[in-house]
Amino acid sequence: MIAIQSLTIRFSGLAAVDDVSLTVGEGEAVGVVGESGSGKSTLLRAVAGLVAPDAGRVLLNDRPVVATDGGGAARGLVARRARARLMQMVFQDPSTALHPRHTVDRILAEPLAIHGIGDTEPRILGALADVGLDAALRFRFPHQLSGGQRQRVAIARALILEPRVLLLDEPTSALDVSVQAEVLNLLDGLRTARGLTVLMVGHDLAVVAHLCSRALVMHRGQAVETLTRDDIHAGRATAPYTRALLAAARDPRVSGSAAKG
Ligand SMILES: Nc1ncnc2c1ncn2[C@@H]1O[C@H](COP(=O)(O)OP(=O)(O)OP(=O)(O)O)[C@@H](O)[C@H]1O
Ligand SMILES: [Mg+2]
Repeated sequence: MIAIQSLTIRFSGLAAVDDVSLTVGEGEAVGVVGESGSGKSTLLRAVAGLVAPDAGRVLLNDRPVVATDGGGAARGLVARRARARLMQMVFQDPSTALHPRHTVDRILAEPLAIHGIGDTEPRILGALADVGLDAALRFRFPHQLSGGQRQRVAIARALILEPRVLLLDEPTSALDVSVQAEVLNLLDGLRTARGLTVLMVGHDLAVVAHLCSRALVMHRGQAVETLTRDDIHAGRATAPYTRALLAAARDPRVSGSAAKG
């Protein structure tokens, strides 16, 4: 479903993503881990078509993802809309990802309106139920919700167009630890129920292993190795960098600092 082929992305001459390849099959959940600044979000943004490759390419369902960043050129708009039906992204911080002056209702109605989809009422109620939110929250503003509820709204918005691919950039790291597991379980349940293809970025190896069957380890823009869920649980790694990352994740004293890089 997703094929990242020898992808390189440079900022001011420096490679944030350096010749990285990765494929994600339909219905598969794959993680991207590594310390801060290793290029994880840049890789995900390239898959989302938010940043253009300097070399290599990304295929989505066998078609190249073309960055439709700049301007509102008609062709870009069409490409962006078609892609939105197929693939959606959830970001780290729901408080900035949701419009502060729009109600939940409006936040969920907007993608439907943009794509000319009717049945707004049942779809919004269905989307709220799918993410375990009470319909009574429908007319609240984001600041009237908890962090976990806000992230559920962001997930509902991402899924309301029924995409087949979900890109997650640290979807639980802005949340309280007690809420993290709830949101992760929700994502895992939705993924299974809908057969979603997931590419998920995360600092926390345990969080990534919860959702993903394997994870690509990145270091300074480069792909170091791929770990299976079992490798992560067993602390098994080949590359010295990955071993250090795993050791840090298993040591509660340093897991915070390692996670931050
Ligand atoms: N728009 C941009 N312009 C210039 N440099 C950028 C831009 N986006 C990212 N970078 C740089 O690219 C590198 C990789 O950044 P990226 O955000 O992909 O890292 P990350 O692995 O997601 O880190 P974190 O875990 O902190 O989110 C960093 O050195 C960053 O400063
Ligand atoms: Mg990031």
